[in-house]
Amino acid sequence: MVLLASKIIKTILIGKGNVGESFINLLYEKNNYLNQKLGIEIKVIAIFEIDGALIDDDGINLKEIIESKENFRELKYWNKGVLAKDKIKELNADILIETTPTNVKTGEPAITHIKEALKSNKDVISSNKAPFYLKYHELEKLAKDNNRLMRFEATVGSAIPCLAMEELLNGNIIEGIYAILNGTSNYILSRMTSEGISFEFALKEAQELGYAEADPTLDIEGYDAAGKLVILANKLMGWNKTIDDVEIQGISKIKNQVVELAKSEDVLVKHLAIAESDKLIVEPRLVKKDSPLAINGTLNVVQIKTRYAGDIILTGRGAGGNEAASAIINDLLYIVSRRFSN
Ligand code: HSE
Repeated sequence: MVLLASKIIKTILIGKGNVGESFINLLYEKNNYLNQKLGIEIKVIAIFEIDGALIDDDGINLKEIIESKENFRELKYWNKGVLAKDKIKELNADILIETTPTNVKTGEPAITHIKEALKSNKDVISSNKAPFYLKYHELEKLAKDNNRLMRFEATVGSAIPCLAMEELLNGNIIEGIYAILNGTSNYILSRMTSEGISFEFALKEAQELGYAEADPTLDIEGYDAAGKLVILANKLMGWNKTIDDVEIQGISKIKNQVVELAKSEDVLVKHLAIAESDKLIVEPRLVKKDSPLAINGTLNVVQIKTRYAGDIILTGRGAGGNEAASAIINDLLYIVSRRFSN
């Protein structure tokens, strides 16, 4: 890849929560490398929070942001009350990075942010899942009509490059997906199996680990996994589904006795997300102990069933600020390599 020397790429970050902050830290850490190796400088010209924004057209001093910690609102370029939805269009930036918390019902305000960016000549990166399990095809069309790129690797499996498989397996045909896409549910079932502890106690542990959603019913009733499954199936297999198309059954009714009984039969109870024969299913199923799906703890796994090469399996940590931030940087470099190389 030959890149123009010292090309400046301007970005807007929306959301300064766990993922947003991890992104700032990782970008600060990697900017020297990007500059020296690739001849690019990624500048963040705006960081939006729910009640205002840090804006500096010349590029925000990331070190200052990191050092200010929770006191960033005291910095001189803090603009109280300035909201992303009103400002995205007029900002002169190349890429918008959306990391606000997911609103499972409406996908807002992320959907509005993404649309505003696509309509004003900005490529988009998102770690926010709901826009893509509620309105994927509408957003894809908008991106295409506006000749924009839209990447959202962090939405499924975090740093596990499962959405990238669309391009990497272009020479093959993906016929189905078997996956574990929710770390919290997998953690609970693993703890019930290995230690015999109760569902409620295991859920509490998962919450303490910071894996569970703010509303943990999204994890244990399968909604989070269902959303990720929709994103995977649409992206990898070109399906046209939304979360309403998924048959969902959670794990909250699974008793310790069932888990114990399964164990004695050499199988494990796992909360699987399956895309096959035009159907999307999230439900508890029995898997053999030596199956690639028999992963433990908070890990995620994606088993891609291909026509010409059998199964391809990806596994790793499916959540966490650093994990999501590394997926965002990958998306950024993907966009940069297509937009700014010659
Ligand atoms: N609550 C999610 C999980 C976080 O447990 O997998 C990552 O999306």
